[in-house]
Formats: sequence, structure tokens, C-alpha cells
Amino acid sequence: MKIIKPFMILLLISLFLLLLLVHHRRQWQTRNSLSIDLKIRPGYASTSYEAYIKRQLRKSLNPKLRKMWTSRDWERKILVFARFFEELKQQKLLSNSSKALCIGARVGQEVEALRRIGVLDSLGIDLVPYPPLVLRADFHNQPFRDQTFDLEFSNVFDHALYPHRFVSEIERTLKPRGICILHVSLYRRADKYSANDLYSVKPLVELFKASDLVHVRKVDAFGLDTEVAFRKRDV
Ligand SMILES: C[S@@+](CC[C@H](N)C(=O)[O-])C[C@H]1O[C@@H](n2cnc3c(N)ncnc32)[C@H](O)[C@@H]1O
Repeated sequence: MKIIKPFMILLLISLFLLLLLVHHRRQWQTRNSLSIDLKIRPGYASTSYEAYIKRQLRKSLNPKLRKMWTSRDWERKILVFARFFEELKQQKLLSNSSKALCIGARVGQEVEALRRIGVLDSLGIDLVPYPPLVLRADFHNQPFRDQTFDLEFSNVFDHALYPHRFVSEIERTLKPRGICILHVSLYRRADKYSANDLYSVKPLVELFKASDLVHVRKVDAFGLDTEVAFRKRDV
């Protein structure tokens, strides 16, 4: 009897450690079972979700940078975004009646650009809010009902720790025939806060399971070089 008790405790501890190991291994596999052209950065592959969010917030909460984004950089960036969105209007991918969402919008220059060109029902989400343009929300878990938006724009795909989740949330909240526009970097490595590296459009085509590819074109967009457009299928 005296021997059985420590033996049982040891057995329970071993079982717990084994379960922990299996759980971590599964998480690692999910994050890394991506196409060869999309890689989670080694620094992120084994971190906790809390550590990932903390790292993303480090830059977004920096008061000096926030001052710069909302003063010196404010107008310049809005004008560039407005040009991109006007082109989408010409291609009939966006109209003044579109309900639009900008994902990872920081201080909301892309939202302001949409509103200025007449797309008034536009909103942004980011980990740090900037009212009234940007709501606080995690793009891995959008706080919106299914089929809410006509257009979703994002230039932060590289910040997704779970790219499949980033995309499935977009496809969930887009209306049928809704458009998703991504600005990504295929040829230059994005900033040090990026959680993944993308080397071709192929992984995006695989991830957007419920959508068709509309176009891929070169852009010069604040360090990002490629615009990829998808349309969610009707069914
Ligand atoms: C490179 S900045 C892009 C800012 C903005 N789109 C622009 O062009 O000015 C990346 C943004 O993504 C946000 N971000 C990172 N991870 C996020 C997450 N899980 N959910 C929502 N926003 C996130 C950061 O807070 C940061 O503001």
C-alpha cells in the first residue's frame, strides 16, 4: 500500500507531461503544416499566443510612433491608400455602397481614405483601437456576424500567427461575392514584427478555399509589393 501511493502520483505526473507534450506537438504541427511557400517564423513557431500578442502590441502602443503616424505620416499615407481604392472602384470591385472592413488598420489611414473617396460605411480593426475609425479586435477572431462585409482590405497578412484562421475569418464575414484585397510582400522580407513569410501567391490560393482568385498585380505599397484580390463564391 505504501508503495502504491507514490507510484500512482508518479504515474499521474507522467501522464500529465505526456499530454502536455502531445498538445504542444499538435500546435506546432498545425502552425507548420502550411505550403512550402508560407512559413511561420522560427521565433513564433513555439511561442504562446500571449507572447505573440504582446510582441505585436510593443510597436502599436509606442507613444512616439503613434504621434508620428497621426501627424507627420497621416495625410501622405491616406493619399496613397485613396489611389489604390479608386483603382478598385474603376475595376468594379468597390463602390460607394460597399460595407468595408480594414484589417490591422492601426490608426485607420486606410479607413479614412475609403471614407474620403465616398465609401462611407468603412471601419477598421486592430489590437489597439483608434476611435472612431478603428475598433479593438483580433483578426484571428473577428467580432462580426457571418456575411457582413462587401469588401475586406488588409496589408497585415504577414502578422498572422495562424494564417488559415486569418483567412477563414475573412471568408466567414464576407458576403457571397464579397471581395478581399490583400497587399503582401513576396520579394522582400517584411518587418521584424511579421509572424510569417510568404514566398508566392500559391498558399493564399490554397487558404482561400471558398473564393476565386480575381487578380494578382505588382504594387508599391509601403514596402509591400503585390496586390492579391479574391472574390468569395456565391454558394
Ligand atoms: C504593419 S502594421 C499595419 C498598419 C496599417 N494597416 C497601415 O498600413 O498603416 C500591422 C498592424 O497589425 C496589427 N495586428 C497585429 N496582430 C494583430 C491581430 N492578431 N489582430 C489585429 N491586429 C493585429 C498591429 O497592431 C499593427 O497595427
